[in-house]
Order: sequence, then structure tokens, then C-alpha cells
Amino acid sequence: MERGHLPIMPQEIIEYLCMSSPELVVDGTSGGGGHTSLLSEAIPHGRVLAFERDPTAAEKLSSRFTGTNVSVIYSSYTGIPAIMEKGSFPQAGGALFDLGLSSIQLDTPDRGFSHRTTGPLDMRFDRSQGKPASEVLRAMTEKQIADAIYRYGEEGRSRAIARAVKQSRRLLTTDDLAEAVRSVVKGNPVKPLARVFQAVRILVNGELDHLEKLLSEMYLWTGSGCRVAVLTFHSLEDRMIKLHFRDSEHFRQNDPPWMLPAAAEKRANPRARSARLRLGVRL
Ligand SMILES: C[S@@+](CC[C@H](N)C(=O)[O-])C[C@H]1O[C@@H](n2cnc3c(N)ncnc32)[C@H](O)[C@@H]1O
Repeated sequence: MERGHLPIMPQEIIEYLCMSSPELVVDGTSGGGGHTSLLSEAIPHGRVLAFERDPTAAEKLSSRFTGTNVSVIYSSYTGIPAIMEKGSFPQAGGALFDLGLSSIQLDTPDRGFSHRTTGPLDMRFDRSQGKPASEVLRAMTEKQIADAIYRYGEEGRSRAIARAVKQSRRLLTTDDLAEAVRSVVKGNPVKPLARVFQAVRILVNGELDHLEKLLSEMYLWTGSGCRVAVLTFHSLEDRMIKLHFRDSEHFRQNDPPWMLPAAAEKRANPRARSARLRLGVRL
């Protein structure tokens, strides 16, 4: 049975984004709709624009929020400027980005995101576009794979793992990739497995390219004083957000610039353990 996705730091995020009752809030990664629903309740007289890149998730969100103050849009958050301009929406007074993937995606074996379940090695957020992970990896050289595992997964054994990936006789399922990792890791393979799967997911979905485009255009659709909250899960994306809020001519860091989930939340929700909430303000 499909389990839900628990929104991370819900209270902190709603307080930060909705304190001044903004007219329009953007949820750039609506996923299971947990944060979207809280935003919708927090600004009953305002509107929430909920973006989602995964068509399966977007369809569920559309039925869930029919007849509410939420407009669901099946699009990457890189489409925000064009969609807001086309719809003549006012500039946003708040924006949320909860990066990465949802528990629903992780727990669905045929999406291929998890090393814990058997499924096709796919990992695309949007299966109507691009190529599945199995094909992406097959087309890469050993060095390219090693670089991706090192950069996006921060895994030290990247070269040996990349060699095993290239040498594996079959690379069609999550088990095939997991087997390649296990073949070179001595000791408990859980962390290297998680890092390699994260790296391949970031690679297949071009996640950092989308993030870079989002950041470079965010000034176009945010109004002065707009508060932006970003939940990050690994150091590369966290650093990109930090530098943008710190150095961009259009944004400043909030004081405090970031927050971590409380101990009780980390105990109740394992996914919260690696989360960091970055806070910025549009100048
Ligand atoms: C961590 S989940 C969001 C969970 C959500 N905050 C909730 O409470 O249910 C991240 C979601 O962002 C989506 N996503 C990833 N990259 C995206 C992008 N570039 N644009 C829009 N959605 C994206 C994923 O498909 C996934 O559903």
C-alpha cells in the first residue's frame, strides 16, 4: 500500500511564509501536497500555485485540490516565470521549494528510485521525457560515471563503483545497480547505496541545472519582501541556495539564514534527518 509523505518542518515553514498573509504563494515542488495543503489553509483569501514535475503526482494533486484556492500546474519549477506571466498572476509574496523526491516516489518500486526494492532502473521524475537511468548510465564512460557519483553522491569509492557499473553484465534493474555497488563495498553497503542512487537520480533528472535556472530567474516573479524557503538534502544544493541568498543583488539571507528540524521531528520522520531549511528574502 502506498504510504504518504510527511511534510518536513511544517510549522516553521508556514510561519515563515504566511506571517504577513501574502496574496500569492508558490509551492514549487508540491509532491504529496502536504505543504501545499497547509499553505492553502494558512492563506484562505490568497492563492497557492503548486508546481509539480511528476505527471502522476500532478494528476493526484489536481483532484485533491479541485475547488480550493490551489492551482496545480504540471511543470518543472523552471516554468514558473513563463506561467506566471501568461496567467497575469501578481508577484509572489512567498515561495517554497522542498527539493529531491517524495516518500511516495521512493516507495513505488516501478519508479526505480530505491535500492531497497526491485524495479526498472528508471528514476525519472517525468517518465514522458528523457531517458531512464539504465540508458543514461549505459551511454556514459567509466570516468563520467565516477565523476557523477563523486559529485552528486559525495561517495569516496566512486571510481571502483563506476568500474563495477561498467563491467556489470546487466544494468536494467535497481538490483543490478545495487549489486554493482555491493560488489566493491566491504562492510555495510547501505550508505554507499543511498549515495549512488542519489547521484544517479540527480544526474538523470538534471536536478542541479533546474535549480540553477530557478535561482537565476527567481527575481522575475517574486515581489519585494517575498520570503523564500528551501528544504535542501545534500551539500551541493544547499551551497547553491546559500550563495544565491548571500551574494545575489536581488536577495538577502534571513536572520537566521537557516534552520534544522527539531530532534522530535527527526525521530518521527527519518527523511527529516538530512534536511536543512534555507531562508531568503527578496530585496
Ligand atoms: C520532497 S517532494 C515534495 C513534498 C511536498 N513538499 C509534500 O509536502 O508532500 C519533492 C517533489 O518535487 C518534485 N520535483 C522535483 N524536481 C522538480 C522540479 N524541477 N520542478 C517541480 N517539481 C519537482 C518531485 O517530483 C517531488 O514530487
